Amino acid sequence: MANLKISLFGLGLKNPTILASGVIDNTGAILKRVGKFAGAVTTKSISPEPRKGHETPTIVELEERSMLNAMGLPNPGIENFKEELKIAKTGEAPVILNVVAKDIKGFVEVAEKLGSFADAVEVNLSCPNVKGGLEFSQSAEVAGDVISKIKKVTKVPIIAKLGPNVNSISEIAKAVEKAGASGITAINTMPAMEIDVETGKAILANVSGGLSGSHLRPIAVKCIYDIYGEVKIPIIGTGGVLTGEDAAELMMAGATAVGVGTAVWNEGPAAFQRISKELNDFLDRKGYKNASDIIGLAHGKNV
Ligand code: DHB
Repeated sequence: MANLKISLFGLGLKNPTILASGVIDNTGAILKRVGKFAGAVTTKSISPEPRKGHETPTIVELEERSMLNAMGLPNPGIENFKEELKIAKTGEAPVILNVVAKDIKGFVEVAEKLGSFADAVEVNLSCPNVKGGLEFSQSAEVAGDVISKIKKVTKVPIIAKLGPNVNSISEIAKAVEKAGASGITAINTMPAMEIDVETGKAILANVSGGLSGSHLRPIAVKCIYDIYGEVKIPIIGTGGVLTGEDAAELMMAGATAVGVGTAVWNEGPAAFQRISKELNDFLDRKGYKNASDIIGLAHGKNV
């Protein structure tokens, strides 16, 4: 049996799989249940005020276990989520609070009011589905500014969640590291669109959505690889982890842990048991003693 334990900015994870933000993560009870199997759990993006989200259809399932979604950041807002967070924290896995807002003041408000109830704060700088949502991660200066202002109001580690749709993701990564981020989640979903040719109309009510699942994986691998070469803080690799070997691939690119979203959408919390077991079997087959032994392997170091 390989050792799957991972340390992420001082947090001990029993395995490197993390519930990605946006899937079965809107109540304390479900986060606690998923935490039995996942190494850590991330909440839904929480905004200052409650948000209803977009009209349906909000989801399109694609071939090869990929999907497009445009939920529109539905969430209960700060006041209604505090109790849920307290319940989530009674579970066995560290809890990462994901925060989102339409301006810097809003990001700061959520982090200030709820950050101390979580083990880390992940900053959604790159939502593809709301007006202005992507703008925070498309400029190194703006991304750095959001992180440094949040850093002033919370003591817990801050993780910047970056999107792939930029010229140079490593430039943004360097800026958030400099601003005081303890980690980077790479990547958010990729803006994408599907049209129903029978009606000639976009399928999603929001017209476009965020692409996730297997189609996103090679993009995530490249982004993680590029970031790993430029920063020292750990990366949570997220994008198309459907199997244990996919997790190994993102770790070899440079991820310390991996977010899992689409696989959880498909099969629920059981995805974590399956992916962890498959990762363990892979490590055993290749003769690696620890999951951490493969981090950054594709860079020709850490071996
Ligand atoms: C939504 C937000 C995201 O950050 C994402 O990657 C995909 C969807 C949303 O709520 O619409």
